[in-house]
Order: sequence, then C-alpha cells, then structure tokens
Amino acid sequence: MTQLKNLFTKVMIGNTELKNRILSTAHQTNHVTDGIPTKDMIAYHEARAKGGIGLIVLEAAAVHPSGMLTTNTVAGFDRRIVEAYSKLSETMHQYGTKVFSQLFHGGREVVSSDYRNAALAPSSVPSLRFSTMPRPMSLEEIEEVIEGFAVSAKLAKEGGLDGVEICCSHGYLPSQFWASHTNLRTDEYGGSFENRMRFIVEVIERVWNAVGDDFTVGIRMSADEMTMDGTTMKDAVQIVEYLADKSRLDFVNVTAGDSSTYAGSTHIVPPSPMKHAYLSAHGFKIRMAGAIPVFVGSRIVDPVEAEQIIATGKADMVGMTRATIVDPDMPNKALKGEFHLIDACIGCLQACIGHYHKGLPISCIQNPQAGKEAQILPLLQKKNDKKSVLVIGAGPGGMEAAVAADTQGYDVTLIDQSDRIGGLLQTMRKAPMRHEMAESMLDNYSKQLAVSNVNVKLGQKVTREEVIALAPDAIICAVGSRSYIPQVEGINDPRVIMVDKIFNKTDIMAGQNAIVFDFGGDWPGIEAAIHLAEKGCKVTLVTTRLHVGEEIHQYLRNEYMKKLYQLNITMKAHHDFGGIINGNVVVRNLFTHKREEMENHKIIVLSVGRVPNTELYEEIKNLAPTVSQIGDCLAPRTIEEATLEGLLAAVNIEDNSSRYSDSSSDYVQV
Ligand SMILES: Cc1cc2nc3c(=O)[nH]c(=O)nc-3n(C[C@H](O)[C@H](O)[C@H](O)COP(=O)(O)O)c2cc1C
Ligand code: SF4
Repeated sequence: MTQLKNLFTKVMIGNTELKNRILSTAHQTNHVTDGIPTKDMIAYHEARAKGGIGLIVLEAAAVHPSGMLTTNTVAGFDRRIVEAYSKLSETMHQYGTKVFSQLFHGGREVVSSDYRNAALAPSSVPSLRFSTMPRPMSLEEIEEVIEGFAVSAKLAKEGGLDGVEICCSHGYLPSQFWASHTNLRTDEYGGSFENRMRFIVEVIERVWNAVGDDFTVGIRMSADEMTMDGTTMKDAVQIVEYLADKSRLDFVNVTAGDSSTYAGSTHIVPPSPMKHAYLSAHGFKIRMAGAIPVFVGSRIVDPVEAEQIIATGKADMVGMTRATIVDPDMPNKALKGEFHLIDACIGCLQACIGHYHKGLPISCIQNPQAGKEAQILPLLQKKNDKKSVLVIGAGPGGMEAAVAADTQGYDVTLIDQSDRIGGLLQTMRKAPMRHEMAESMLDNYSKQLAVSNVNVKLGQKVTREEVIALAPDAIICAVGSRSYIPQVEGINDPRVIMVDKIFNKTDIMAGQNAIVFDFGGDWPGIEAAIHLAEKGCKVTLVTTRLHVGEEIHQYLRNEYMKKLYQLNITMKAHHDFGGIINGNVVVRNLFTHKREEMENHKIIVLSVGRVPNTELYEEIKNLAPTVSQIGDCLAPRTIEEATLEGLLAAVNIEDNSSRYSDSSSDYVQV
C-alpha cells in the first residue's frame, strides 16, 4: 500500500480516467523532423510511461503554419501527424498512461527558425524578448486559425489521443487576444472584455464541434504573467469564471509567466533557487474560480510535495515535468515507497530547456540518457562478463560513469583523492545561488552510489603503481581540472584570488572594493560577485563576453541579472584582465585594445578558465585494454559534458562497435 494515498488515486478528467495524479506537462523535445515526431520522441515518452506517469501532454503542436514557434515545432495541423499520434498513443496506452496534445499558436512569439515566420497577432504590439513586431490579423486570418484549432483537435482524436489542451498560457495567441495591453482592436475581437474573450470562446466551441462529446478538452493558462504590465491573478480569476460559464472546459492547467519579457519568461521553466511548488496557491484560486479540475506544476520536484498539493485540495493533478525528465521511474518508485531511489531535478535548465533553445534534442545533465533512450537503453543491459572497472575521480562525470558501469554488472571501484565525493560540486555548494543545485546533485549521486555495488574509496590519491597493482580491465579517468593562472604582470599580488577559493575566504570586509574577472560568461564569476556584494563589498564584474551570463540559460540568467542589479554590482562587458601595474588593476577593451587602470581594489578575483589535469592519464593510458578520459580532464567544460561522457565511457567498456549514434532524424514509420 502506497504512503501517498492521494497522489495515487484515480481521477476522471472530462472523459479520461487517469490512474494517478502525476502528469508530464507539454515540453518540446526537438525530436521532430519536418513537423512530425520521430521514433526518438516515442522512446523518450515511453520511458516515462513505463515509469508510471498518469498523463503525458505532448509538446506544443502548431494549429496553423503561422503558429510555429521554431522550425522544430510539431505541425499539429498536418494530416501526417495522425500516424505519429497513433504510434504515440498505442505505445503509452500499453502502460495505462493517457496522452493529450497541446494545441498551440504563438502569435507574436516567434522564437527562431531557418526562415522566420511573419508574426501574426491581434495587434501590432511588439514582443520585447524576441524583438518581433507582429502584423494585426485580418478577420479571415482569425477564422483560419480558429479552424486550425478545430482541425488539429480532430487529427489528435483520429490519432487515438485522449484529449487536447489549448495553450493560452505564457502570453501566446489566445491570451494576446484576451489581454488589453496586446489587443488594441476596434472590431468584435477587441475592446470590451467580452470581445477580447471572443477568440478563445470560439476556439473552444469549434474544437468541441470537431471532436464530439466523448473527448477531453481543457486549457493551459498563466494565473499570473508575473511581469510589468502583464495580466494578474485578478484577471485570471475573471477569465476562468467567464469561461466556466460560457464554455465546457474539462480542466485548467495552471502555470505562470509570459514569453514576451525577460522577467515573465523565467516562469515558463523556473530555475533553482526559485521556491518549490510556488504556484500551488495559484492553482487553488483558479480551482475555486471555475469549479473545474485544475492541474498545477512548476518546481514540484518531490512526490511528497505533490501529495500535499492533492491532499490539501490545491489541485487535481500535479505537473512534474522535469522531475520525470531526470527520473522517468519516479512515479513507480514513489508508489512503492522507494523514496531513497528518486533523483530530484536540480533546476539548472541546462540540457532540457537549454537544449530546446539551442535547437538540440532534449536531455538532462543528471540523466544523460534522457532524449537518447532509443540508443542508450539497449546498451545499458547487464553484461555476462564481470570485468573490473576503475573510475578515478568522483566528480559528476566519474560518479555517472561508475553508476552506469555498475548497472551493467561490472565490478566497479571509484577512487578520489578528496575525502568527499562531488569534485567541483563541493565548490558550487558554497555559491549563493547554486547551493541547492549542488546539494541536490550530491544527494542524488550519494543515493545512487549507496544502493549500487560500487566500491567507493575516498581520500586516496591514485598512482601509476596502484593502477598496475589493481590491474583493471577498464579505466575511466575523470580527474577534473584546476584554475588557469594567466602569466601576466602582477599575478602574484596577494590581492589576487582564484574563483574557487573566494567562497572560503574569511577576511572579506564590508566596504572593500572588489573586482571579478569572468572569462566564460558562466556562473562562477557571477556567483563570486554576488558572494562579495552580499558581504558588503563594492563589486565590479568584468566579462570578456558580449554580456554578463552569456553562456547561462536565459531564464536562469534573468534571476542572476535581477540579483546583480539589486546588489548594485557594476557590470562591464567585453573587457579582460591585463595584470596589475603600479598597484592598479589593468582592464583591457577587447575591441579597441584600450587599457584602463583601476585603483583601490582590495580583492581581485580571477575566473578566467580552467586547465585539464592530464598528467595521470598520460601515466596510465596503456595500463588496461580500455582507458578513457572524460569531463574536465579531457577538456574543461560543464557538468553536462562530464556526465554524458561518463555514461558513454561506461556503455563503451565492452564493445566499441556498440557505440551510441544519433538517429533522431528518423520519421515515425508505422
Ligand atoms: C524543454 C522544455 C520545453 C517546454 N515546452 C513547453 C511547451 O511546448 N508548452 C508549454 O506549455 N510549456 C512548455 N514547457 C514548460 C513545462 O510544461 C513546465 O511548465 C515547466 O517545465 C515547469 O514545470 P516543471 O518544474 O514540472 O518542469 C517546457 C519546458 C521544458 C523543460
Ligand atoms: S537539465 Fe537540469 S533542470 Fe533540466 S531536468 Fe535535468 S536537472 Fe532538471
């Protein structure tokens, strides 16, 4: 009997019976070719269905060619989609998981594409984030798009899906009609509240006419756009009350945020350190307003949090999207009470929404199999031959390699010279805004190692002689990197400190001037600046990049920018560190090469790159039949590359011919 009685209770949503209260909300996988889902998308969702999830809402499917958010958007209006939907629904139904499609039109929100669509919207009001200026829709175009919603819903039903969700959230087209700041029309679709609601009311009506009564239809909406001039909870309550009165709606999927501004967009996929389950009160208010079943999500990472939401009547279903990207088996583990086996999402955004915005297939830095299920899962089977594997270095890459090798039944030893696992995660956990990410990732890997057969040896520096004595069949070298120290004048000045030491510095005093040099546009320099400013220093953050945080996913960068402004940190882009001359810090402009001397800095922090630790690999590279080098010791990059290379090294121990290859361009063939 499960301890989470409410979460694992069946529920009827419209005409769809769901076996539990956990759903995966719509999220783009980029496993789409020419508008049609690929086999990799099916394999991706199948892993989550197999893991016990009750409902999967498939990613945004455009209802009209003008509504494509990117080149990789699913073409929900295209008749070829029926075949793909059939395969998706047949696969998920085998596991008792129900499947909806999300019907989508972005309006003025056009992210990117090979060829950028002319954006259509109720009125010519620009999207600030994408710098799009839309053209006002003609009445004929409005009619065509409404028909597109109806046709796309019918195709979803023909493909065996269980329902559709009309996307009205995040400032996309239906909400561009209902919001007075984006709808300046003077015809029957603009002006009064009733006129601005006409578009969505007609869409819902036409969808029902197209699918008939024996289907499930709901909407997704932002209960609060959480941005300047955006719609608020008060508006959302009015909208839901009106729709509940005018239309048949089987559910409202509550989210927050707005695509058109930096601040609003953060809530599309909220990062750490934002609070867990921060929208549950919003869910409750919408549930009360409409007396309609409500779904709520966003940063719900733990099934116990989800249980409380259902138990306290905040919502009827809980969105746990990234929670199941990281750990597809989370629902089954929670059902069985195996909470110690669940890996939590750390809210980094790097490989899920980060990949989406780079046009890459979905993945996860903690679960590099995600999005590659079709290729990786067959390789992760138990092997008959119990080879011995030595993994040197217990950072994220080494831990991932050790766990993946253990899954295949190898005899694994993981050694690290430190007395704690984690490598650079131990530095990251001291950084003010990365604390939760690091702690949570350390916790996840600690649990995985604890239930594995991996022999973990800490506080032990590995030498060539020890490797010879151990005589492993395979070696995975994951010994990381160290700070790069530029050989410039003044580098030995006692005020200079490398970034990974700054979080341990004990003599930082309020009022001191501090300058931080960032080379990667990444988090260490920003975190150092925040750390110093929070201790009362007057901080300048200098980056070689075009802007601060250039390499950080934009939703997380938004949170960093807010913090940097709140702390009055001075930002200076496209400059680098030119050394220390006459006691002054030299800052160089990368375009004009002009040098500037800055006086009176008591703390000079360098985050100017890392150097790979290659020495051990050179000594041991011939000591086993398979020796691989992964992560930072191969070339300093991020955790994502480290864990992916750890996984790939582990699946390639046995047989180099079984190498993972990407087949994401396959269409669904049924
Ligand atoms: C890669 C990715 C793509 C997304 N695409 C969509 C989408 O197509 N439509 C949508 O309404 N939300 C989209 N979202 C937002 C998610 O549905 C969800 O609201 C968000 O991930 C927060 O929930 P979580 O904390 O449970 O992950 C996307 C999220 C991710 C991570
Ligand atoms: S990449 Fe980061 S935010 Fe995305 S699912 Fe994985 S842990 Fe969560």
